[in-house]
Amino acid sequence: MEVKIEELKKTEIDKALKLISEVIVDNFKLDGVDLVKFKKEIDSGLELQRQRLLNFSAKNLPYFLVAKNKEEIVGTIAYGPIDDLIKSALKKMEKSEDKRLITELISVYVKTSIQGKGIGSQLLSEMMRLLKKTEYKYVSLSTGYIGGKKFWEKKFGKPTVVFEKYFPDYGDCWIWIKKV
Ligand SMILES: CC(C)(COP(=O)(O)OP(=O)(O)OC[C@H]1O[C@@H](n2cnc3c(N)ncnc32)[C@H](O)[C@@H]1OP(=O)(O)O)[C@@H](O)C(=O)NCCC(=O)NCCS
Repeated sequence: MEVKIEELKKTEIDKALKLISEVIVDNFKLDGVDLVKFKKEIDSGLELQRQRLLNFSAKNLPYFLVAKNKEEIVGTIAYGPIDDLIKSALKKMEKSEDKRLITELISVYVKTSIQGKGIGSQLLSEMMRLLKKTEYKYVSLSTGYIGGKKFWEKKFGKPTVVFEKYFPDYGDCWIWIKKV
């Protein structure tokens, strides 16, 4: 599918949040999760994404790219400061890299009905191209989604760190830390 990858505009934040929210809910369904039982987890996931977009609006941080099909946002990817989970992974690896040199890929979502058509790959390639121009030496990310794990394994190989049964009643959390 022909999509354009470009920077998210502040005027498009609501559109991006709508897409991300839809994909999160679809993804829990695809992973066979009981939406009622996991309401708290789903809501906190949505809230995290909302906060990221509000931060983006306020400070231009994190840095967001979107995939657009005409005017519709059909994919997102961002990078920002590493979170506590990545910090724990670094501790587990006994890595003493300067944390300022590590960034985290976040908010990687593609519209459910057009997943598997290369849009996630396009978003990631463009982000990696841009990251090479920054001061960051390492890129990290975490996921608990089964489909997400398959995507990242295609891109970065086996996870660098696994936190088993990290998500109660859901499963493991997989972490990758790779050179930019
Ligand atoms: C993960 C995601 C961003 C990938 O985007 P995409 O546009 O579907 O991925 P692509 O079409 O570029 O796929 C790239 C490769 O990963 C594989 N892949 C992607 N999603 C997969 C899945 N759910 N199951 C198995 N393989 C998958 C593709 O088969 C493809 O392999 P190939 O190179 O051998 O053809 C997207 O599917 C998505 O939004 N998923 C739900 C949310 C999520 O898991 N986000 C990432 C975790 S934070």
